[in-house]
Amino acid sequence: MGDPGPLGKFGDYGGRFVPESLVGACREVEEAFREAWSDPQFRGSLATLLSVHVGRPTPLTPAWRLSAELGINLLLKREDLTHTGSHKINNALGQALLAARMGRTRLLAETGAGQHGVATATAAALLGLKATVFIGERDAQRQALNVFRMRVLGAEVVEVTTGSRTLKDATSEAMRQWVGALEDAYYCVGSVVGPYPYPWMVRELQRVIGEEARGQCAGELSTGVPDYVVACVGGGSNAAGTFAGFVDTGAQLIGVEADGGAGASRGRLGVLHGFRSLFLQDDDGQITEAESIAAGLDYPGVGPEHAYLRDLGRARYVTVTDTEVVDAALRLARTEGILPALESAHAVAWVIRAAEAGELPPGATVLLTLSGRGDKDTTTLMELL
Ligand SMILES: Cc1ncc(COP(=O)(O)O)c(C=O)c1O
Repeated sequence: MGDPGPLGKFGDYGGRFVPESLVGACREVEEAFREAWSDPQFRGSLATLLSVHVGRPTPLTPAWRLSAELGINLLLKREDLTHTGSHKINNALGQALLAARMGRTRLLAETGAGQHGVATATAAALLGLKATVFIGERDAQRQALNVFRMRVLGAEVVEVTTGSRTLKDATSEAMRQWVGALEDAYYCVGSVVGPYPYPWMVRELQRVIGEEARGQCAGELSTGVPDYVVACVGGGSNAAGTFAGFVDTGAQLIGVEADGGAGASRGRLGVLHGFRSLFLQDDDGQITEAESIAAGLDYPGVGPEHAYLRDLGRARYVTVTDTEVVDAALRLARTEGILPALESAHAVAWVIRAAEAGELPPGATVLLTLSGRGDKDTTTLMELL
């Protein structure tokens, strides 16, 4: 999980498939980020904000009761405890700082579960920038609480009514708006997707999860590293950040996708939103709609680095169903007192299934990134329970 080089390639994946008008804008972001990332002052400002505003480092919590039930040693990396309630803030704050350094005054962002939208609205408020967030109309309904939070934070929220009215359509609309606003706007992408440099830059900004967890595991586990490192995968940013801390160890890396949004598990090579990767497609090569109970995993593709890690055999990608996800969310709530986001509950669901099926050997140590908290999903759960 190194530098993808000037073409932004992860094996056959990645790249920069954008209209002429955006090539220069992407190059500008790349140059600005390379310069900022090697500037100790920028790194220092971000580290300070992550500490005093976000509450990093996040704890590593042993899941005592669930571990006992499953016969494993499960450790939770608590991104749900960050300010705004998910890992998305690590990335949004980094990119907002970069935008301010580039002299931009407005952030554009897409959002599915609303967590990246809330994070972007928060970072914009903190740094005195404007924010416009695009969200599919369907997601706006199921994540109404987050839409309200964005507006309270001062962001303009635009509901997108085209296509499946979810994350794919919100992303397309944000990219369209960016083309027309290059002078003052910065496009703050929410996952390890989009044209280069975004997949690499977002992974670097989320690397903090994996690096912190690696140090915490070294203190917590006699072996130093866990046997398994598990994270849910939408576009793949919390997983990429987590994996980055363990890719050079013997830990098995597992990305858990939604059954209806399994880009890495069941996608085929294609191009969408400016990058080449694995996407769900029909026989004519048309991108098909994703479908998941978790709005943040409702995306038909996966970030290019995950596609590459899959091909290399370094990471394995698996799927869980909506029913398993709801059961897992409730089980974690009732054994540990932690209600996870439905996205994060995908990772929990796979661990439960694998442990109960004997796929995880008794006593196995498992690090699971709990990417967010479940407050935003209470309406969905209320309808089901
Ligand atoms: C809590 C939470 N986890 C995970 C995701 C999926 O994103 P990614 O795969 O980029 O981590 C989202 C997306 O909105 C989210 O809100």
